[in-house]
Amino acid sequence: MIEEEENFDRDWLQERYPFDAEARDKVLESKVLTHFDEQSVLTLVDVGAGTGSNCLYFIEQFSQNQKWYLVEQNEALQKATIRRLKDFAAYHKYDFDRKKNTVTIKSIKKKVTVTIINDSLLNLSDLVDLKKVDLVMANAVFDLFSAKQIEQFVNIIVDNQLAFYPTLNYEGMVFLPSDPFDEVFIDQYNGHMERPQAFGTALGKNASQYIVELFEAKKYQISTAESTWRIEPDDIKMHYYLLNFMENALGELDLAPAMQANFEKWVQRKKDLIITRQQRLEIGHLDIFVTP
Ligand SMILES: C[S@@+](CC[C@H](N)C(=O)[O-])C[C@H]1O[C@@H](n2cnc3c(N)ncnc32)[C@H](O)[C@@H]1O
Repeated sequence: MIEEEENFDRDWLQERYPFDAEARDKVLESKVLTHFDEQSVLTLVDVGAGTGSNCLYFIEQFSQNQKWYLVEQNEALQKATIRRLKDFAAYHKYDFDRKKNTVTIKSIKKKVTVTIINDSLLNLSDLVDLKKVDLVMANAVFDLFSAKQIEQFVNIIVDNQLAFYPTLNYEGMVFLPSDPFDEVFIDQYNGHMERPQAFGTALGKNASQYIVELFEAKKYQISTAESTWRIEPDDIKMHYYLLNFMENALGELDLAPAMQANFEKWVQRKKDLIITRQQRLEIGHLDIFVTP
């Protein structure tokens, strides 16, 4: 079962990678890259790193030598992260070396080291020497955190006067063509994300706005831009992944029998549209870049 979950996480994170790459706001991204233009070496932290997508994407965007720290609490993803970094190096014909949880990738032009840390991002100040860090990043991480947890993390950023670039923060979705029941079941799905859990209530679609408000209160410079996934009729696998997430989430809610019946019919209508390649889906996100 654990191996199944590991494979699922690994495959899902790999599947979403090109959609993230396409959706990232390129104007904001270029502002981030320009912000660090003058530095010849960068120390970067990616929190909630999954299998290293953010690092893999930005290794090529930054022209400088880079020292990465990937903080991920799910230990099972470490093997897949190392494998992806190794594949990346092989594809580009870069040198690859690994010592325990640190990988070194070298080309003629630059040297990149990546250290994988298996821990919670809420412990960041105990994990990395933050005085040496130039930028903290996070991709698709904070919607599952409570207001208190987000505040705790933002305080770490602010106390250390760090720049922070959380991207692909979920804000909502629109199916095209639309269905009379879309709004009801999208609301239920968002509500499931925001259900009370052991750590509190996750902010879900409201997390991005909360992050912005916290940095505004700390008088940080803030830039934001939308980063929308555009899932086209031919992106069958992605459609199934997302519909599956909704089915699983709503399956955990105690829907009244009539609503449950409506939900099952709605899912079937979506599957019919997917299989006949007529379904489009837009998922709204916000990219945020803040500096002291
Ligand atoms: C949606 S995934 C995104 C992964 C990766 N950033 C990407 O773009 O592919 C969210 C990740 O955050 C991790 N995560 C959740 N809570 C965490 C925490 N408290 N500390 C570190 N990682 C956490 C999860 O294990 C998961 O890998």
